[in-house]
Amino acid sequence: MKKYLLISLIFLIGCSYNHDKRLEKKFVIGFSQCTMVDEWRKTMLEEMQREISFYRNFDIRFIVKDAHDDNNQQIKDIQELIQEGVDLLIVSPNEAEQLTSTVEEVFDKGIPVIVIDRKINSSKYTAYIGADNLAIGNEAGYFAVELLKGKGNILEITGLSGSTPAIERSKGFHEIINKYPDIHTTKIVEGEWLEEKAMKITDSLFYVFTDFDLVFAHNDFMAYATSSSAKKHNIKAYIIGVDGLNTPKGGVNMVLEGFIDGTVLYPTGGDKAIQLALDILTGKPYEKNTNLNTYRIDKTNARTIWLQGAQIRSQQQKIDNQVGQLDTLSFSLRRQNTFLLLTNIIIILLVTIVLTIFISLRNKSRSNKALDEMNKTIKMQNTLITKQRDDSMNLLIVAEEAKETKMRLLTDISHEFRSVVTLITNPINSVIASIKDEAVVNKLKIIQRSSERLNRLADEIIKFRKIDENKYQLKFYSSNIAKFILSIVETYHQQAELKNIKLITEIPQEIYAEFDLEVVEKVMCNLLSNALKYTNEYGTITVSVKSEDSKICIKVSDTGRGIPENELPYLFNRFYNVSNSKRISENEGTGIGLALCKELIQLHNGQINVYSYENQGTAFFVTIPQFHLIVDRNQYARSIKPIGVKLDPFQNHNKEKTVLVVEDNPDLLDVISDIIGKAYNVTTAFNGKEGMVQAKAQPPDIIVSDILMPVMDGIQMCTEIKKNPSTCHIPVILLTALDSQETTLKCFDIGADAYITKPFNEFLLLSQIKNLIDSREKLKNAYYPSVFEKDLFKTKDIKDKEFIKKCVDIIYENIENESFNLDNLGAKMNISRSSLYRKLREMSNLKPVDFIKKVRLNYAAKLLLTKNIPVNEIAWRSGFADPKYFSKCFFQEFQCHPKNYCARFLSNELASSV
Ligand code: FRU
Repeated sequence: MKKYLLISLIFLIGCSYNHDKRLEKKFVIGFSQCTMVDEWRKTMLEEMQREISFYRNFDIRFIVKDAHDDNNQQIKDIQELIQEGVDLLIVSPNEAEQLTSTVEEVFDKGIPVIVIDRKINSSKYTAYIGADNLAIGNEAGYFAVELLKGKGNILEITGLSGSTPAIERSKGFHEIINKYPDIHTTKIVEGEWLEEKAMKITDSLFYVFTDFDLVFAHNDFMAYATSSSAKKHNIKAYIIGVDGLNTPKGGVNMVLEGFIDGTVLYPTGGDKAIQLALDILTGKPYEKNTNLNTYRIDKTNARTIWLQGAQIRSQQQKIDNQVGQLDTLSFSLRRQNTFLLLTNIIIILLVTIVLTIFISLRNKSRSNKALDEMNKTIKMQNTLITKQRDDSMNLLIVAEEAKETKMRLLTDISHEFRSVVTLITNPINSVIASIKDEAVVNKLKIIQRSSERLNRLADEIIKFRKIDENKYQLKFYSSNIAKFILSIVETYHQQAELKNIKLITEIPQEIYAEFDLEVVEKVMCNLLSNALKYTNEYGTITVSVKSEDSKICIKVSDTGRGIPENELPYLFNRFYNVSNSKRISENEGTGIGLALCKELIQLHNGQINVYSYENQGTAFFVTIPQFHLIVDRNQYARSIKPIGVKLDPFQNHNKEKTVLVVEDNPDLLDVISDIIGKAYNVTTAFNGKEGMVQAKAQPPDIIVSDILMPVMDGIQMCTEIKKNPSTCHIPVILLTALDSQETTLKCFDIGADAYITKPFNEFLLLSQIKNLIDSREKLKNAYYPSVFEKDLFKTKDIKDKEFIKKCVDIIYENIENESFNLDNLGAKMNISRSSLYRKLREMSNLKPVDFIKKVRLNYAAKLLLTKNIPVNEIAWRSGFADPKYFSKCFFQEFQCHPKNYCARFLSNELASSV
């Protein structure tokens, strides 16, 4: 297809191109004219141009240069033409001698040279064309003899003396007239071929010499000028010229008009010169010297010649017109050819485009069909895949829901387990303590351990659930992690000894880190108990801790049986049991311990890895960051007890304090009462409402209450207690099975002082009770004024006491500032001046200004007792600018001069009043 298109394109372009076949060859012809000033030269040029226009098959470039009768200019012109790369040179040399060498050079270069009209002094030219000037001179001689009838004086006006026509014409003329002794050439002047020059010469000559019977001018232009001068000087002489140009200003017309008596034809030969040039260029035969015809023109033939000339001119005009038309036609033909070429190209392009479109449409329709087919298949597959996806999604959703339900169920059951385990462990602990029979104690200890394990498992499940729900909150504590880990390892020493396992620790004294105690404890316990479980007698377990690049690296390695290599990748999967049955003893699997460890460590931004070789041992590597970005350190620090504090739960408790226990489950009520009863007085209630009534009737020192209870739950009860002014000061501990953030927040929202999750540790419960009672006591003491401040506290309301205490503290902070006044105090307390005034009045029975003064004086009294400094300084330090005024105020307040205050205070009188 493409091949055919290309062939037709070439064919059509070829067809279009054929019409321009006339331009066979390209020729450049240079023409160096000696002058272009006169009609004769112009006629010669017109003839040449006309002739060129006849050669339509050639592309001829014709370059013409005019030397303006200047030899040097002509030499320059010729050189320029050569440089322009002419294929042939036509030259009409101004003067023979001066131009000869230049023309020879051109010829020697191999460029054809046609010499026209005037000659050179050499034969080194390709061809010459022109009339025979010697013959012309002869003819002029004969004519003169005839006119003078053999007797008379002649004036000769020559052309340029160095030009060959002038030389030859003169020679030819004299050859004839010299034969007649009565004919004398009395004057010869040089007119240089120019009309003006001849005019000038003759005009001045005729002033001096008038005796001329005939004037022979070498051309008609000079003859015409002589005619004018002769007329002016009234000289009657025959005038003969040369050229016979048949134009209105030419010699023929001069004869007809009577300006001159005759002329000898000197043909211009421009057409002949071009014919000769083309013959030479196209390699045709040619004559080296062409002599153009010449004849005499006088009154007898001038009219005929003029009429013939007119005819020729009109024909030439017609020819010129036709040539013009031909040019126009050729131009339009060329345009048409170009248009045709373009049309052909466009047609071909259109055909190509149409064919391409057709082919692509055909291909498209084919591919469309194929695509349709594919589409159908894809749609079918899509439907199938969508269905499969939907099915899988449904399955996934069902599975997710099932998993979720399972997990929720498992978590709920785990919570229940914890409540139940509490019921088992606490009584067992009491029973173990009271029984002496070792066998029974051992069995009970198995129950104790099993329930602890059960509790641990339940705890792990709950933790997993929290991690899954992103609810597991790490509680970072800044402490000595090395000491913490060591204390955990120590608890395994006894177990290790029983199995004759060497437990080695490579732990430095101090490594401070920010870590979650529970995470580290959980992970360490898990790794240690696994190591103990799977290490044979006389084996070794090594625990090492180090800090490296702000990371804590913990390694627990054992010399146990190891884990099969193919099972290592699954070791941290949930519910994965290593198949090596030898590893499993006492019906215990690894459970979800390792999986939980991994999740917790990852939560802690750490990593856990295991390396194990069967029958050689296992090593666990745990890495956690040493420091963390902790948003609220206080919050975490507050919620965690300092490490290493070991309290005896039954020591230092104030047995006089009463604890109200509110619990609907009678068993649990018994257990809790038993625990608390060891340290405090216990009163009980079965629901919130009962608890509320009891708290009002007989306010206990603290309330421990369950949350979920009939009639009134723990949350509601706590809210009521905290709202009521008579019970609001009683601390409340809530017991919850739900260790969730929401529950915690809820507890604190309603004003609960602490919460404990079930199953609780009795040590923890008692510690919490003790802490709360102690801190209440401290708070109370803090609000009870010292001997110095007691007058300030007239109010009994605890909130008001807090307010007064805050005022006193602020005044103490600014004590040295003598200008600290009520406004400043109001600003610091964030309360308006008027409210502060009213409150202070109500609470202290003092005007605020006196209140501030009293605080300053109390402070001064303390300074007097504790510091041995001069009274003046005491005054300034207490915010009194004037020591005298201070002493006066002090005396009014304490009825004692400051100087004597210390001694007086220490005296029995004052001492007894403290
Ligand atoms: C023109 C002319 C003619 C003369 C010829 C001689 O320039 O002067 O009149 O015949 O040159 O070369």
